[in-house]
Amino acid sequence: MKETKNLKLIEHKNVPQEEPARQYYFMDIAKDYVAQLAAQKGSPMTFHVSTFGCQMNARDSEKLVGILEKIGYVEVDSEEADFVIYNTCTVRENANNKVYGRLGYLNGFKRKNPFMMIGLCGCMMQEPEVVEKIRTSYRFVDLIFGTHNIYKFAELIVNSLEANSMTIDIWKDTDKIVEDLPVERKYSFKSGVNIMFGCNNFCSYCIVPYVRGRERSREPKEIIREIERLVADGVVEVMLLGQNVNSYGKNLENPMTFAELLQEIEKIEGLERIRFMTSHPKDLSDELIEVMKHSKKICKHLHLPLQSGSSRILKEMNRRYDKEHYLELVDKIRAAVPDIALTTDIIVGFPGETEEDFEETMDVVRKVRYDSAFTFIYSKRTGTPAAAKEEQVPEDVVKERFDRLLKEVQTIASEKAGAYTGQTLPVLVEEKNEQDASLVTGRLSNNSVVHFPGTEDLIGKIVDVKLVECRGFYYIGEMI
Ligand code: SAH
Ligand code: SF4
Ligand code: F3S
Repeated sequence: MKETKNLKLIEHKNVPQEEPARQYYFMDIAKDYVAQLAAQKGSPMTFHVSTFGCQMNARDSEKLVGILEKIGYVEVDSEEADFVIYNTCTVRENANNKVYGRLGYLNGFKRKNPFMMIGLCGCMMQEPEVVEKIRTSYRFVDLIFGTHNIYKFAELIVNSLEANSMTIDIWKDTDKIVEDLPVERKYSFKSGVNIMFGCNNFCSYCIVPYVRGRERSREPKEIIREIERLVADGVVEVMLLGQNVNSYGKNLENPMTFAELLQEIEKIEGLERIRFMTSHPKDLSDELIEVMKHSKKICKHLHLPLQSGSSRILKEMNRRYDKEHYLELVDKIRAAVPDIALTTDIIVGFPGETEEDFEETMDVVRKVRYDSAFTFIYSKRTGTPAAAKEEQVPEDVVKERFDRLLKEVQTIASEKAGAYTGQTLPVLVEEKNEQDASLVTGRLSNNSVVHFPGTEDLIGKIVDVKLVECRGFYYIGEMI
């Protein structure tokens, strides 16, 4: 028992073995403890979840929030809370550094607040050397868990509250998917929906397969059931999430393709928009393109990571497509869905990248003309095959290429922005405009941002907006 927390302990008896019943059992215990702590403190116990990384982590954080709220914690907007959780990312080195930097500053809060607990979870925690470093150098952390056992959060909170030392629970991998736990969405009208977990691709630069485990798909009926419930609760747009959604369903007992899943989701009444992320070019099928062409709900936006335009580098990256295949795919997609917005991810400075290789990337960028692109400087991730390569590109060369690429990407994106000026298109209203209270902000099907005069009651609705003017990368419109 922590000295500062004089909890009246509850005996764990008849603990259910099956999930999610077991977690609901621990939520009840946790709720009692949180109420005891609030009584000692004289005010509600507060929490704050900080999320790093991708949409998978964002969705996982919603699951953490769902449980925290269920057991009586109250969300606050600052890290001066009684329970602070960092849901971490390790895809690039700078993601890690940010966490270490901020932990020091959290410790300052903890020294002043005897009720404070600090929890760390997410991809970084799946790296043994990270956990070792925290265990030895950041001893004020209370709870560490990983990506595979996040569903056990309620049980882990109970363990941590009852323990007087750091609680660490990390699994190497799992084949388990636990359904029906509480989730608290950030937005009332849109939601991420996991369709699969993990990744089997092992791109040679990437740490994700090591920290997210093997690919496993959710049962289609569970996905449909979740979306139906979301729609009943006001959701009109879903973002289907997976590291490689195009390989969805391969490992199911009754295999099903991503294109087939999309067709099932399309049938859900009341659902207006379907997005998905991320598509791997190697698995993007003609069947999927055909479904996108005929769909009324799939948004006109495809994120199709290129990584490199050089076939030689793509091979070294283990991406399993080449430049020609990628360009053919883009042609096929544009022929089927002419007004689709294309976005991408590009890595600069992969080991052994020559000026010629880089020019191939620039060539693809000029040929495809992306609506926008995320550009990354290659980051060496320990344990990945690329990290062992000797021919790392000098920093100044990488930086110079990165700047050239960024400039090209931005020039093209700004030339493409505004293509729909003058047209009237449906906009899903997402929020009140932060700068100007008379405006609301929403998105077109192709993901472009539109600001227009309107009131808060429009949030979550899809309305027709005339795109009057394009300023930089967004439109100013008026509702019709
Ligand atoms: N599953 C997705 C990508 C997830 S990671 C896909 O295959 O497209 C998101 C992006 O981070 C990747 O597309 C890649 O561009 C970038 N990335 C991954 N590992 C990286 C590394 N070691 N250095 C720099 N960027 C990296
Ligand atoms: Fe990483 Fe490649 Fe898997 Fe994407 S597909 S998560 S880049 S290994
Ligand atoms: Fe980062 Fe993990 Fe996503 S490493 S990008 S949070 S899957």
